[in-house]
Amino acid sequence: MTASKTPARLRVAVIGAGYWGPNLARNFISSPDWDLVAICDLDGPRAQALADRVGTNVAAYSDVAALLERRDIDAVAIATPARTHHTLVLAALRAGKHILVEKPLADSREHGAEMVREAAERGLILMADHTYCYTPAVIKIRELIAEGALGDILFIDSVRINLGLVQPDVNVFWDLAPHDLSIIDFVLPQGLRPQAVSAQGADPLGAGKACIGYLTIPLQNDAIAHVHVNWLSPTKIRQMVIGGTLRTLVWDDLNPQQRLSVYDRGVDLTQQAVDGANAAASMVSYRLGDTWSPALPEREALGAMAEEFAASIRDGRAPRTDGEAGLRVLAVLEAASRSLASQGLLSSLAGHDAAVTDAARAAVLR
Ligand SMILES: NC(=O)c1ccc[n+]([C@@H]2O[C@H](COP(=O)([O-])OP(=O)(O)OC[C@H]3O[C@@H](n4cnc5c(N)ncnc54)[C@H](O)[C@@H]3O)[C@@H](O)[C@H]2O)c1
Repeated sequence: MTASKTPARLRVAVIGAGYWGPNLARNFISSPDWDLVAICDLDGPRAQALADRVGTNVAAYSDVAALLERRDIDAVAIATPARTHHTLVLAALRAGKHILVEKPLADSREHGAEMVREAAERGLILMADHTYCYTPAVIKIRELIAEGALGDILFIDSVRINLGLVQPDVNVFWDLAPHDLSIIDFVLPQGLRPQAVSAQGADPLGAGKACIGYLTIPLQNDAIAHVHVNWLSPTKIRQMVIGGTLRTLVWDDLNPQQRLSVYDRGVDLTQQAVDGANAAASMVSYRLGDTWSPALPEREALGAMAEEFAASIRDGRAPRTDGEAGLRVLAVLEAASRSLASQGLLSSLAGHDAAVTDAARAAVLR
């Protein structure tokens, strides 16, 4: 009998040691797939402090170019603000590194597309950290939809509100909605490919950008999705309701005892002939069945994400949340910005695949 060979550990550096970077560092350090070898941040002492905190042989850099010169590093994980992703990702790809980049993939679809092209040409992995797609709850939702447990999807209603940090470079859509959009993209079998979206935003405090946002996304077969994001709510809600022709699922991410509930309830509509004539009338009936809660394993999403990043590099395959998934999210965000700039008019995604209008780019901040 031959002992199975453990694959060699891959070597990774984290760029960005602000709020989110430490979470990536912590998960790489505890992963059997990775050796975390360096932390880089423009703020040198901040990089050093994180490097000291997470391990013994972790180097600190304040110069990205010096970090990228290291030939012993296989991959970099980028947790810097969205406006820096394009420059950092292209530089790291050109230095031969595989990339994990935070959401949103980039600050425009055009920039994101350039990153995806560059990675493909170099045969390197470009993965978006769509963190929620690695949570047990979202993986279960995807399974339930795929096996037909909900039937055909009728509506999706997503609420993500709390007292959030008003971001310096993006509005609330670009900060929070990437989560909802990447989840919807992941759980729908056909992915998130709407024809058009409409968005309404408000800035009642005069912060200079939308702090409250409502995004409406028509889906196939007259279904509809709605996303509500808000930085100004004193109560925190993280809830998604997905209604289907057979069942409706409610995901309450802040309820660890019962994150998912599946309601065997709904409305049936049948057409019946009226008095034997050709005319038909709609008959509405209500199904009132059981509610159940699927068991979910407890696992930190970023641990699963680090595992998937390593597996995609070793297998030479696209990761579960690849650059294309990141681009689908960016396409919706850009259409939302165009809609916002035109007072909520439905904005088409068609024809805006490759190029971004200046108006949409400016509207990122509105
Ligand atoms: N996946 C998630 O759930 C999640 C949660 C929060 C934030 N994020 C994402 O993580 C990214 C970072 O957000 P944050 O809240 O940590 O921001 P932050 O401002 O707290 O930290 C960013 C850090 O990057 C450093 N930095 C900026 N430009 C740099 C450059 N060119 N080279 C090296 N370092 C640079 C800054 O000095 C800072 O320390 C964003 O894309 C954000 O959307 C993701």
